Amino acid sequence: MTTLLQLEGVTRQFGGLKAVSGVDLSVAPGEVIGLIGPNGAGKTTLVNVITGVHRASSGIVRFDGEDVTGLKPFQAARRGIARTFQIVQPFPEMTVAENVAAAAMFAGAVRYGDEANAEALGHLRFVGLAEMADKRASSLTLAMRKRLELAKSLAMRPKLLLLDEVNAGLNATEVDHALSLIRGIAARGVTILIIEHLMKVVLSLCTRIVVLHHGELIASGTPQEIVQDPRVIQAYLGRRYAAGGEAAEGQSHG
Ligand SMILES: Nc1ncnc2c1ncn2[C@@H]1O[C@H](COP(=O)(O)OP(=O)(O)OP(=O)(O)O)[C@@H](O)[C@H]1O
Ligand SMILES: [Mg+2]
Repeated sequence: MTTLLQLEGVTRQFGGLKAVSGVDLSVAPGEVIGLIGPNGAGKTTLVNVITGVHRASSGIVRFDGEDVTGLKPFQAARRGIARTFQIVQPFPEMTVAENVAAAAMFAGAVRYGDEANAEALGHLRFVGLAEMADKRASSLTLAMRKRLELAKSLAMRPKLLLLDEVNAGLNATEVDHALSLIRGIAARGVTILIIEHLMKVVLSLCTRIVVLHHGELIASGTPQEIVQDPRVIQAYLGRRYAAGGEAAEGQSHG
């Protein structure tokens, strides 16, 4: 099996707290992999280590055959790793299109000017925000800001896209729209790792699911295997999700 992303013993400590602890994980090209686990399990921290927002305290991150441990976020972006943020934070005074163009330039995907603007418009059309292109980002609703976040990450022309709770706070219609967007991105061949509390989304999108608990990877398997795994049920799923496909028991929606 070829590997796009490989984590070996990845650990990140904050003082005495091991937020991520000895994580080994291989992601193959084209996989859509779900990363689930309780609040505070270390999911966002793991994404922050992969994207260079936080340094790994120990362990190795390999991407596309190269050691990328300790790269800066812009360097990771230029290698083809893009992510969305759980807390969306566009530049509020800039227009929607300018935010996307800035992301494209950050990742070195395009040059400043017309090329960046055209690139931005293309991605805004894809996520259904073209008509908002010239509005200030501060005027967007939460659902629109989540779509802007997706457009920004796509503007980096990623090989690997890390999605951190892109559906949190959205209503059912908005979640369905996001789901079809994510399917479209996967169909283009982009490898996706998605952090998500909505089990309906994880189960319908992912070919494989991995589970973090207290910073450790406690399970990895097909959706079928994961929902039957007693450790995962105990640590995270509870029993309620099975009925309605909603968020796992007691988890906040970010
Ligand atoms: N910058 C930081 N400084 C100190 N502690 C941090 C920092 N970032 C995260 N932590 C701690 O690391 C642990 C893991 O946090 P993280 O945000 O990765 O969890 P998560 O799985 O993404 O949770 P959620 O589902 O609520 O988003 C938590 O105990 C958190 O308080
Ligand atoms: Mg998180």
